[in-house]
Amino acid sequence: MSSEQLFKPFSLKSLNIKNRIVMAPMTRSFSPNGIPTADVASYYSRRAAAQVGLILSEGTVIDRPSSSNDANIPHFYGTAALAGWKNVIDGVHAEGGSMGPQIWHMGVMANHHSGWKPSVPFEGPSEYNNPNLKNGVAMTEADIADTILAFGRAAADAKKLGFDCVEIHGAHGYLIDQFFWDATNNRTDQYGGKTLAERSRFAVEVVKEVRKQVGEDFAIILRLSQWKPADYNFQLAKTPEEMESWLLPLSEAGVDIFHCSQRRFWEPEFEGSDLNFAGWAKKITGKATITVGSVGLNGEFLAAFAGESSQPSSLDELLRRFDRGDFDLVAVGRPILADPHWVEKIKENKTEELVGFSKEALGALL
Ligand SMILES: Cc1cc2nc3c(=O)[nH]c(=O)nc-3n(C[C@H](O)[C@H](O)[C@H](O)COP(=O)(O)O)c2cc1C
Repeated sequence: MSSEQLFKPFSLKSLNIKNRIVMAPMTRSFSPNGIPTADVASYYSRRAAAQVGLILSEGTVIDRPSSSNDANIPHFYGTAALAGWKNVIDGVHAEGGSMGPQIWHMGVMANHHSGWKPSVPFEGPSEYNNPNLKNGVAMTEADIADTILAFGRAAADAKKLGFDCVEIHGAHGYLIDQFFWDATNNRTDQYGGKTLAERSRFAVEVVKEVRKQVGEDFAIILRLSQWKPADYNFQLAKTPEEMESWLLPLSEAGVDIFHCSQRRFWEPEFEGSDLNFAGWAKKITGKATITVGSVGLNGEFLAAFAGESSQPSSLDELLRRFDRGDFDLVAVGRPILADPHWVEKIKENKTEELVGFSKEALGALL
């Protein structure tokens, strides 16, 4: 099957991209003291030069004292880090690419294996990262208000530096997702509640603040996941109705594109339909969506962290869903991490040159 349809341009507000392929956000921990280096800039500009439509940066943390658990994860605040990011976006634009930073607060985390710790305890809706790990403090309403403003400042800086869009990290068990999940959000104030809709209040306020800071014409992406690192099969929304109660307020708050994280894009979300998460999000909100998860690979990414290699696989099922209109954009992680030229090889149908993914690729900025 030809992948031609993935090479049609896409425009939405500030975003004008040459094809439908997005580099998924991937933490690399190559930014000492939180400052992206020249090597980080060249890593991204190599992908821009090699026809990646939209690059989403690795998660980059907002201005809260315990937003990160790793000294080598980039900051999105402070003069030096923002100058590093300016260098990144200028390099990407010089190669004709487009990019948005993924702005991130990790919430309550496990301690990093390096032994590095932030100056104050991790913070979240409660002390919990998951039901089996208590390693932080519950945020006060003042902490929450300050965090919302910090997300807004990061988004404003993204626009000021010249990025094409911004992505808010609301997935994978980090801060925003800790508010969504009843196992980590046991609050009795306005940020807690029995329903997913009630526990979405924090995310809604973050999106509204980001919208206020960037204006109407700047594209805002929100990344969400049903699954949690502590429970791969978990579903925040157990029915289409519950998903509606979750996504519609976020859509109304100002999300332009929902980035629907799955480990395997072909897995249906609910019984009785083969629609995946991105398919449902588009059907419910009418907004653009991004799908992701083992596109072009035969093994999923969490197994990759445990050392499992993956081989290239066919794009036919992806293209079938794309043609049906289930989603607008397709994010690709490991294949583009391992090979800056993945998109060009797909475009030119050079399948015999695809390299797959092995964990050695994580050791360097290829
Ligand atoms: C090394 C690595 C780091 C990742 N870091 C992030 C991250 O910072 N933010 C995020 O939302 N997802 C992160 N992910 C998940 C990817 O964005 C993506 O959803 C996942 O790898 C599935 O896509 P793939 O099967 O094409 O690799 C990471 C994945 C990998 C492999």
